[in-house]
Amino acid sequence: MKTQVAIIGAGPAGLLLGHMLRAEGVDCVVLERQTGDYVLGRIRAGVLENITVNLMERLGLDARLKAEGLVEEGFNLADGERLIRIDVANLTGKTVVVYGQTEITKDLMDAAAPRGLEVIYEAGDVALHDIESDAPYVTYTKDGAAQRIDARFIVGCDGFHGPSRKAIPASAAVEYERVYPFGWLGILADVPPCNHELIYANHERGFALASMRSHTRSRYYVDVPLTEKVEDWSDDRIWDELAIRLGPDAAANITRGPSIEKSIAPLRSYVFGTMRHGSLLLCGDAAHIVPPTGAKGLNLAASDVHYAAEALVAHFKRADQDAIGLYSGKALARVWKGERFSWSLTKLMHRFPEDGPFERAMQVAELDYIASSTAAQTVIAENYVGLPV
Ligand code: FAD
Ligand code: DHB
Repeated sequence: MKTQVAIIGAGPAGLLLGHMLRAEGVDCVVLERQTGDYVLGRIRAGVLENITVNLMERLGLDARLKAEGLVEEGFNLADGERLIRIDVANLTGKTVVVYGQTEITKDLMDAAAPRGLEVIYEAGDVALHDIESDAPYVTYTKDGAAQRIDARFIVGCDGFHGPSRKAIPASAAVEYERVYPFGWLGILADVPPCNHELIYANHERGFALASMRSHTRSRYYVDVPLTEKVEDWSDDRIWDELAIRLGPDAAANITRGPSIEKSIAPLRSYVFGTMRHGSLLLCGDAAHIVPPTGAKGLNLAASDVHYAAEALVAHFKRADQDAIGLYSGKALARVWKGERFSWSLTKLMHRFPEDGPFERAMQVAELDYIASSTAAQTVIAENYVGLPV
């Protein structure tokens, strides 16, 4: 098979890019290792910045998002004693939308066939070849048969563990990494949220986050040491821990119910120092990871797609010879700011095992400063809604 752009991975980055290219008349094919149901079963991000909402709007795929998404005008930082409300709408004139990654993925999947976007699921042994040439190709197996796609560009949207980034020689870029000594244990339950706005809490027993997917579906997290096993956390144990860490006011409003999903996600900051090598571009988690604090992962994937689509369309439709070369620099400039925000909010809201009284005093001072300074609240708010693209 021959196409202009071979996209590896049908997560949000790969599907968004596929739709953007199709909408502009650029040929592409998306290759996914898993089944569609498996991709939809992964419970991940929940808070969308304008960039992500705008891409869905530009594609005309925002009907359900507009109807079912919850517009959030603010969120809260809990410091054990009080709630510090960050009035995002008043401080920035913008809002975020609560709408699960699963729902975005479903909307993009449902629209693929009607819009002529070819997505090949259950593609095995995907491998990239000749990425330093102008004629790269991808090989894979489907139903036991060997297949090959020739393209002008390959875009790796295959997440942190996919083959795309690994196809780039180690000498081509520096890797920047910070691994955190805890993970987030998440629980999803069909119960009303305890608060209409998100609460990020720093309690002496650890971090907690109260989030939601709708008025009837809640998403909560607590941080746990990496040695913990999800099997050791009964639903009751999680609800008890949340009630303590979120503080008495939120606890009084927690509705308990059986979990419909429970998992532990490790926290990591990671940036691969280039997002293009020859004819290969990287988008989303394939190029960078943020700790989830601040909900930047999916939104950075969306801004990468925005820049990548812009570059590929300029290349194919306007014969712009420079566009592809500018992609990595443009995307990384925004990625690094997202990395900085996620890292700083993680440091502020978690109790690190290696921290002593001084580090804790710095957290208290910073939270106190945020509580009393509109300038400090504005810094947090403008990062939370997403920096300009
Ligand atoms: P992915 O969603 O990882 O998609 C990559 C796709 O590539 C997958 O479908 C995968 O199956 C496919 N693939 C992988 N290998 C191959 C291969 N060899 N061949 C073909 N296809 C392949 N972000 C937040 O903002 N908030 C959160 O609460 C949050 N929770 C998270 C929880 C977990 C467990 C994880 C892993 C991430 C979480 N994130 C969260 C991050 C956010 O979900 C990601 O940033 C987002 O999914 C990035 O999208 P992506 O399309 O780049 O990558
Ligand atoms: C959710 C996840 C996050 O990482 C975050 O910062 C806010 C909300 C969520 O899954 O709802």
